[in-house]
Amino acid sequence: MEQSEKRGQWGSRFGFIMAAAGSAVGLGNLWKFPYLVGKNGGGVFVLIYLVIVVFLGYTMMLGELAIGRNTKLNQYNAYRSINSKTGFMGVFGILSAFLILSFYSVVGGWICKYLFEFVIRGIIPDSQNFFNLYVSGTWEPILWHAVFMALTLIIVFGGVSGGIEKASKIMMPTLLVFLIIIAVRSLTLPNAMEGVAYYLKPDFSKFSFQVVVAAMGQVFFSLSMGMGVLVTYGSYLKGEEDLSNNALTIPAIDTIVALLAGFAIIPAVFSFGMEVTQGPGLLFGTLPAVFDQMPFGQLFGIIFFLLVLFAGLTSSISLLESPVSWAIDSLKWNRKTAVIVFAGLCFIIGAAASLSMGPVLGDFKIYWFDPKGQVIFDFLDYLTANILMPLGGLLLSLFITFIWGYDRAFAEIRKGSKSNFSMGGFWKISMMVLVPIMLILVFLQQMGILSRFIG
Ligand code: PFF
Repeated sequence: MEQSEKRGQWGSRFGFIMAAAGSAVGLGNLWKFPYLVGKNGGGVFVLIYLVIVVFLGYTMMLGELAIGRNTKLNQYNAYRSINSKTGFMGVFGILSAFLILSFYSVVGGWICKYLFEFVIRGIIPDSQNFFNLYVSGTWEPILWHAVFMALTLIIVFGGVSGGIEKASKIMMPTLLVFLIIIAVRSLTLPNAMEGVAYYLKPDFSKFSFQVVVAAMGQVFFSLSMGMGVLVTYGSYLKGEEDLSNNALTIPAIDTIVALLAGFAIIPAVFSFGMEVTQGPGLLFGTLPAVFDQMPFGQLFGIIFFLLVLFAGLTSSISLLESPVSWAIDSLKWNRKTAVIVFAGLCFIIGAAASLSMGPVLGDFKIYWFDPKGQVIFDFLDYLTANILMPLGGLLLSLFITFIWGYDRAFAEIRKGSKSNFSMGGFWKISMMVLVPIMLILVFLQQMGILSRFIG
């Protein structure tokens, strides 16, 4: 890759952590995690999620970072440089990024709209109804989707990610503080403890393999794993960085944000008597009502949605950068063309996803993964988080086991490791045995094979 001679490196460990955490922490944590908890039985989902983060999150993240730092190449060229036949793995991740961005930007548009409402009107009365009416509209959600995509485009276009890195250092800790304050308000609402019990006490009667599939998909989505984004991030790491440490810190930050988002939203849902299983509208229906119960509610709403918008943008730029840098390196496009083409295509697919929430395309169903059919928005979400990203994870595990080899992977991970990589044994077994077994089970479940045997 042409930039290999003048490749930048992260200014500091903190800068890297913030950038990688910036890609990981996003709408997945704040919007998706709480509603998946609600749709998948509460505490039992949270427990399975945490187990998967510990075993699979750490293992896979370490693997991706190691490949990146070793090759000093972006995801596409990294896989190809180790073995010419494995370049397709990079392309695979690029396709996932492209499809995720399409519907991610629609949700980013919802955030923009809410921010706008808070600035102009101050409050959103009957926020649940407001949300349902709003997303099923035709033009307005597409307009805000365009705004979010345009913001992403401008940032990736200008390559002002240096500024983003600096801003992340302030915005991310601020987001954390705000989440804690909102969680405290939510936890002190009447009946909030009912929500806490639902959130933290696993009810094993709600366990099913479908819950495991959902949790697994969410771990991949939330940690930006299984699509090579972290390979590219790792390629900017210095040799003396302790990879193992980083592979612990990033999932830890990401998980703390997700758990806090749950504490901010789920107790409030119970307190206001809302429906916890309602799906994507959960954050949008609940939080405005929480802000309504707080002094300076409008200000809180504005700052909070601004922070969520920022978290979404630091993720969406890593998504758009993925196909863009591939087109620049491999297709020899210039940056401007690549950004416009991919942002434009994502906008069109996203517009269809947005229309699928309302009457225009709401009846158009895809039956690949669900006999009842999925609208375009749900289909894209399911295809990426539950199929493509785990498949990317399985390929990564096979790649490290059979192609790159443990000796080389270990040598890379040990470089810069102060503890001489004491987790090596765990990592090896996890990568070679646990990860593939978990992922294969997930795929069998998706194909309906597992439930035929286990019920
Ligand atoms: N991890 C991001 C989130 O939780 O919002 C979404 C995401 C970003 C997924 C970048 C994948 C990715 F490559």
